[in-house]
Amino acid sequence: MPITLGFREFKEIRDLIYQKTGIFITEEKIYLLKKRVEKRMSEKRMTNPEEYVRFLKYFDKNGEEFNELINEVTINETYFFREFPQLQVFAEHCLPELIERTNVKFVKILSAGCSSGEEPYTLSIICREMLYPSYQYHIMALDIDDNALKKAAEGIYEERSIKDVPKVYLRKYFQTIERGYRVIDEVRKFVSFYKINLFDDKQLLSFGKDFDFVFCRNVLIYFSDESRRKVVNTFYLMMKPGAYIFLGHSESLSRITTLFELKRMGNGLVYQKPLER
Ligand SMILES: C[S@@+](CC[C@H](N)C(=O)[O-])C[C@H]1O[C@@H](n2cnc3c(N)ncnc32)[C@H](O)[C@@H]1O
Repeated sequence: MPITLGFREFKEIRDLIYQKTGIFITEEKIYLLKKRVEKRMSEKRMTNPEEYVRFLKYFDKNGEEFNELINEVTINETYFFREFPQLQVFAEHCLPELIERTNVKFVKILSAGCSSGEEPYTLSIICREMLYPSYQYHIMALDIDDNALKKAAEGIYEERSIKDVPKVYLRKYFQTIERGYRVIDEVRKFVSFYKINLFDDKQLLSFGKDFDFVFCRNVLIYFSDESRRKVVNTFYLMMKPGAYIFLGHSESLSRITTLFELKRMGNGLVYQKPLER
């Protein structure tokens, strides 16, 4: 029997997702949410949307069903060396500036909303090229989506994910296997993955306050301004003075916060935590 998710149930589920994760689903996306909810309802053998909403709100005590729903709702689109010019700014301007300004020997990087791992592994390849072995580095990679994190931990990718990897790096840092391309251990060992909700500031802060770089690209586009502000303010507390934060190329902090300085580095614009605060 077809399920009809009414506007009232859509709003209740939308609000629940928003309160817990910061992800804001606009009314134009009702159709998409409906499909995801329908999938979950059929898995749970439910036919009444009201019953599903009630279950989510009052009976999903350990959050298992909410977790499954979030795995369906998140957009995980990603690939290696995404937004190449921005990565060039990171590698050729921000990293050398950090090394010159500080006597840091260990560079700590956060990849927040890492999806299936392409972003943190890309950063690991860049750091191996630019820093290692004179400088050590580590990348902490976080996401809310279990399925994406499973794929990240496996580190095996299809053609679509590696299409923008420069050939020289593809040969150097990937092993061709039957199922695709496997990131080699020398790149993987510098990345740790964790399941966390970025909207939970206590959980996020537990990763430390000494990051030199935060990458949170193409994640906050799904958030409201208010939830973006909350997450970005937490990143601010996690960053060292002078640390850089990278958002997706279409994302701006201008409406969100004045905590960071916008700086021109090479051909790009980057946000930096001021040194003197
Ligand atoms: C479009 S992907 C971006 C991946 C990568 N940063 C990139 O730019 O290619 C967005 C990721 O953010 C994650 N995400 C969304 N809301 C989140 C939250 N509240 N906490 C943690 N991760 C979240 C999603 O699960 C998804 O994997």
